[in-house]
Amino acid sequence: MTGQDPKFVKGAFAKIADRYVLTNHVLSMGTDILWRKKVGRMVRDWKPSRILDVATGTGDLALEMQKKCPDAKVLGTDFCPEMLAHATKGGVMETEVADAMNLRFEDGEFDVVTVAFGLRNMENWQEALTEMARVIKPGGHLLVLDFSLPRGVLKKPYGFYLNKVLPKIAGLLTGQREAYQYLAGSIGEFPSGEKMLGLFEKAGLTNCQWIPLSGGIASIYTGEALRK
Ligand SMILES: C[S@@+](CC[C@H](N)C(=O)[O-])C[C@H]1O[C@@H](n2cnc3c(N)ncnc32)[C@H](O)[C@@H]1O
Repeated sequence: MTGQDPKFVKGAFAKIADRYVLTNHVLSMGTDILWRKKVGRMVRDWKPSRILDVATGTGDLALEMQKKCPDAKVLGTDFCPEMLAHATKGGVMETEVADAMNLRFEDGEFDVVTVAFGLRNMENWQEALTEMARVIKPGGHLLVLDFSLPRGVLKKPYGFYLNKVLPKIAGLLTGQREAYQYLAGSIGEFPSGEKMLGLFEKAGLTNCQWIPLSGGIASIYTGEALRK
């Protein structure tokens, strides 16, 4: 497995766009808010001037970064107009419909590129990372926040929650149980930990780091674009 079907993904997000934020907060019991806040603090410490938030969706992370980095220009992009409409309405300063697999930007345009819960849904994870790394300035940062599978004692109960409980609750909230069955499957297939760091290095990034969150149910990965 190297990625997901973009036509299915775009359609699935278009259907759940109006209930996406609420469903996220219910399913994660608000933890997703804390994860995005942590990302905001990390990005603030890099003191960026231009930030690109790829697969911004409803713009939750872009808004958090706008709060934490008031002097930075934040651009949120997504290939699903229905999701992006919420980001624009919510106050993301600049938004644009764009496919992360083929960005229109010049090499090295951004100090920081972020993607939260988006990479997992892309057509080819390695190619997407390479494309995002391309638009980062030398010495700038890529940050990926996404779900991962916990190891150890949490592994079994989390697998049960993900595959049996979550699709039922999300189905009731959104009427789109299939989209959340897909979510559970996509998390199982997505590379995490050392495997993800390997993809970062292959994309030409250096100083790559992995920070597991909440017992490993999510992870932050960071890497630096090579200085010339
Ligand atoms: C789970 S949502 C994440 C939204 C947001 N980043 C967040 O933290 O809530 C995933 C988003 O990725 C977008 N997406 C998936 N593949 C994409 C691609 N190739 N290019 C741009 N956006 C993509 C979807 O349209 C969707 O809005």
